Formats: sequence, structure tokens, C-alpha cells
Amino acid sequence: MDSIRPELFDFHGVSMSHYFTNNWENVQNFQARPDDIVIATYPKAGTTWVSYILDLLYFGQTAPERQTSIPIYERVPFLETARVASKKDLADKLPTSPRLIKTHFPIQFVPKSFWEQNCRIIYVARNAKDNVVSYYHFDRMNQAQPEPGDWNSFFHRFMEGKMVFGSWYDHVNGWWKKKQTYSNLHYMFYEDLLEDTGREIDKLCSFLGLSPSVEEKEIVAGKVQFDNIKKNSMVNYSTLSVMDYNISPFMRKGKVSDWRNHFTVAQNEEFDEDYKKKMKDHTLQFRTEM
Ligand code: A3P
Repeated sequence: MDSIRPELFDFHGVSMSHYFTNNWENVQNFQARPDDIVIATYPKAGTTWVSYILDLLYFGQTAPERQTSIPIYERVPFLETARVASKKDLADKLPTSPRLIKTHFPIQFVPKSFWEQNCRIIYVARNAKDNVVSYYHFDRMNQAQPEPGDWNSFFHRFMEGKMVFGSWYDHVNGWWKKKQTYSNLHYMFYEDLLEDTGREIDKLCSFLGLSPSVEEKEIVAGKVQFDNIKKNSMVNYSTLSVMDYNISPFMRKGKVSDWRNHFTVAQNEEFDEDYKKKMKDHTLQFRTEM
């Protein structure tokens, strides 16, 4: 396949690729509805996992055919991609209510209509070390992402914030700060979700005002387990030709601490040193081990 890998460029102070900026005007003018639900993440923090949980919670009982016939990236479309960003297209794709919409935007790029409509937003954050490893393998297998280079150069680019959607540090901090003033934001962690999926589903239900039965919640928790997601072709992205699963699967390891298999001792020291300088708000804590 000819390479279609994009270049990174600075866009309003954030590194981006043209795939996510082409439709900027449309996206910025997007008209949110009060019952829209947004899933916001830095790439590779568990977006698909939480998207699937929400889709099951809302539509698992009422529209079970969604689960077997529509890939997750159409059930929960990307706000920033041209294909789904126009009002009409998004409405066509999502006849159901509420609309579940995902975004990787840093806080300052979120279209103002979502704030005006006071939409509920779920932000998922993942520790930086596992996040950079997951992102590296994703950029290796996804031809729509910039050339990743070798691990060491990718690792340094991550620390510099030269990734699509910019700096992980700015992203998680920007959203964390927003949570202090915007009450309709539920900030959750990948590590917590892995530790106790049932507990995190309970928290999500309470935030969303949903009250499924114990049995329904157990079904959801079972369906979204890593091994089940990995083999579910409607969720594991195996239907997208731009991704090469011979290089790395989208549902790759699904673990905490895989960074230990990638970071050298020297890289780890350099990373920790740099991390301390960038992560000054000690109310925001991540677990890199469990
Ligand atoms: P790894 O590459 O570390 O395996 P996103 O959906 O934001 O692109 O995130 C993808 C990451 O979430 C991948 O991480 C993927 O394996 C992980 N993931 C998805 N579903 C998961 C689950 N049920 N349990 C644990 N990790 C999961």
C-alpha cells in the first residue's frame, strides 16, 4: 500500500495531522444537544473501551443489532474527522438519542456548543508510560498516523509533546483543571477501570443517571473484558484497512506496566526527571504499577 502517512504540524500551539484539522470550521461550529455525551481522551487511553461500555449501557438492551452490525467507530463517531463532523452526517449516523461522540481534542479545542449545552463529558486518562508505549505501537500499525521512527525517537517526541493531539502532559492537566469548574465532567482512569470494571461502571451510571439491573451491569462488564473486546470484530477495529494487524493489533496487550518491557533504565530516569517538572499539580496522580 502507498504510504499516506501525514506530517505533524503546529496547529494553534498543538501538534496535529491534517486528518484532524481539515474540517476545523465545521467542527468548531458543531451544534451540540443537551443530551449528547462526549468521551474525551488523549489517544490510546482507553477510548474504545469506554465507548463500548457506554454504547452497551444505552443501547445494549434496546438496540442489540447495533452490537453485531455497526462498528464501534460508527456507533461512537469521532468529532474531529470530516466524515462525521457535518451536522447532517452525524445525525444520520446516530439516529438514536443520546448521541455518543468521541474526541481526542485538548480542552481548548472543544467546540463551544458542548459547554453552552452543558453536555456530560467523560474524560479517560492513562498513565504516561503505558500511554506512550501504546501510542508507539498504534503509530507503527496505523498508516494514517505520522511515521513513528524508532522507539527512542518516539519516546523523546512524546516528552516534547510532538504527537498527534499534542502533549500528553498538557492534555491530562487541561482536562483535570476543567473538572474543577465544570461539574458535568467525569474524570476517570484506565488503571481504575482495569482494576475493577464493575466499580467504574457503577460510577459511570451514577454520573449518567442510569440505573441498570445488577444483571445488566454484569453482562456489560463481561462483554467489555479485554479478551472479549479483542475478538469482537465490531469493536477491535479489524474492519479498517488503514491499520495493519500484522504489525500490531489495535487491542494489543490491555495491561498496566507494559512500559517495563520498553523503557530502558536510562530512559526511565530521564522520563521521571522530566515528568516531575511538567506535572506540578499533585492532586492529579497516576498509577504506573498495580
Ligand atoms: P494497549 O496498546 O496498551 O494494549 P484507545 O481505544 O484509546 O485507542 O486505547 C487503546 C488501548 O486500550 C490499547 O492499549 C487497548 O489494548 C486498550 N484496551 C481496550 N480495551 C481494553 C480492555 N477491555 N481492557 C484493557 N485494555 C483495553
